[in-house]
Amino acid sequence: MNWLSDNVNQLALLGAAVILILTIYVAGKYIRQMKTEKSTGVLAEENWDGIGEYKNELPAGWAYTFLGTIIWGMWYMIAGYPVDGYSQIGEYNDEVAQHTKMFESKWANADHETLKAMGEGVYLVQCSPCHGIAGDGMDGKAADLTVWGSADGVLETIKKGSKGLGFPMGEMPAGLLSGDAAKKVAEYVAGGMKGEQPAEFATCAGCHGPDGKGMGGMAPDISTYGSPDFVQMVLDHGKKGFIGTMVSFKGRLTPIQEKAVGTYILSLSHGE
Ligand code: HEC
Ligand code: HEC
Repeated sequence: MNWLSDNVNQLALLGAAVILILTIYVAGKYIRQMKTEKSTGVLAEENWDGIGEYKNELPAGWAYTFLGTIIWGMWYMIAGYPVDGYSQIGEYNDEVAQHTKMFESKWANADHETLKAMGEGVYLVQCSPCHGIAGDGMDGKAADLTVWGSADGVLETIKKGSKGLGFPMGEMPAGLLSGDAAKKVAEYVAGGMKGEQPAEFATCAGCHGPDGKGMGGMAPDISTYGSPDFVQMVLDHGKKGFIGTMVSFKGRLTPIQEKAVGTYILSLSHGE
């Protein structure tokens, strides 16, 4: 064990040596004094069965040592071991970071089925308490993921509006379109905005841009709606929605885990 390489250990060892030397010196000095000298000083008034007490000042060495330990104690708390040096929590965090890195590289190119299986595990632990085991949102406690991400999900959004992802554009109002127009636009958006753009999309283009990409971050990039990328954006943002708050998962899930859970929840509405 190379415990001398740790400067805290070195310091402790140095301190122990100093204490040992001082103890031997001081003890020797007083033992000699007790043998040869008589005590001096002013006697205190009270005595116990004839045994009195001298009112001597604190020995300077003792007082300085006491002061020294207070200063050392402060240094130790502020700049020394607890905040600056090795800690078990630090070691734990380092190990977690290392494993996360290994995890990320191991699954960097995972296929659809693997991501889905992994995502189901993440989902059941992290998401099902609010969205339900089946993803149905438990009677409106959270978003119903069996439709979210599909054309029906876009339709829901158009009907109810959307808020809480924290985009500069703010809130999307409810009921911008209805009936066939809403359906047509919903299918176009859920289909990845491919093919001919319905004229009614002009209602959306004002905020999301003609290409749906969100005008440089002003509103969400809905050209990726229904893809794991969009889920990842949602998870990084968190959502203070109409029915409650979902915290941001940024840093709590790794990018691969977000992609996996995205793949899984989209399989609920896309059926694959
Ligand atoms: C007034 C600006 C504005 C208009 C117009 C607008 N949106 Fe939005 N849209 C937003 C904003 C802002 C958000 C992010 C809302 C949030 O924070 O949840 C959003 C979010 C969305 C989402 C993502 C919802 C989700 O579940 O995360 C979809 C899909 C969407 N809009 C589609 C449309 C469609 C389709 C139209 C046209 C009918 C449209 N938007 C018109 C501003 C707008
Ligand atoms: C604390 C409860 C809670 C947890 C945990 C939670 N969510 Fe949510 N989620 C919500 C709420 C509330 C909404 C917003 C619903 C609304 O406004 O209609 C939401 C919305 C969503 C949406 C729709 C976002 C949008 O823009 O419309 C998706 C996708 C989603 N959650 C996925 C997940 C995933 C994946 C997980 C697990 C990694 C998760 N959620 C964990 C409560 C939660």
